[in-house]
Amino acid sequence: MTNAPKQPPAEDAIREHTFDGIQEYDKRLPNWWLFTLYAAIAFWVGYWFYYQNAKIGLSNTEVLQQELARIEAAKLADPANQLDDGTLWKMSRNAVFVDAGKATFTTTCVSCHKESLRGTDEGGIGPNLVDNVWIHGNKPTDLLKVVNEGVLAKGMPAWGPVIGAKKTSEVVAFVLSHHEVPAQ
Ligand code: HEC
Repeated sequence: MTNAPKQPPAEDAIREHTFDGIQEYDKRLPNWWLFTLYAAIAFWVGYWFYYQNAKIGLSNTEVLQQELARIEAAKLADPANQLDDGTLWKMSRNAVFVDAGKATFTTTCVSCHKESLRGTDEGGIGPNLVDNVWIHGNKPTDLLKVVNEGVLAKGMPAWGPVIGAKKTSEVVAFVLSHHEVPAQ
């Protein structure tokens, strides 16, 4: 039990070469070191697959774009805002409104306007919403009015009271997302 220098385990072989009279033991890499190496390799494979190959994970740019869209959505949805043509066009370029509007369209509007929005052109009851022919005007506020108040005599129900103002504006944004924003 003295402080004698620790002797290497007897099974460590001595390597053949000698430099300046110095020899070295042929030591095995420590397990913790090997574990770190293999774990890093496994992590790399998983990372590469998730972000680069299958693209399940979002890139930094995509994360940023989503955040910006969310911030703009919060600004646009501010009740102090006038729901005018400009605001509706902006909403139609924002995934937050368009995605929500798509969900409403799928449950509420496809029965007449069809999944493709092509309506009567595909055997639906309502008119085509993706061509440039509009019965009630092509301004976003015209669409909003029709969806809100309906055209009862022609079989378009008034959706405002049924789905509420928020969903109405979202579903209009979804329809507008199929159209070009007119040059100012
Ligand atoms: C029961 C069938 C029916 C449903 C459901 C329906 N619509 Fe319609 N929609 C119509 C009909 C019919 C017209 C045509 C009205 C006319 O001729 O004046 C129309 C017209 C419209 C127009 C005006 C088109 C133009 O050319 O001016 C818009 C916009 C519209 N619908 C959007 C929607 C949205 C959004 C929904 C879902 C919230 C919806 N509709 C649900 C039947 C329907």
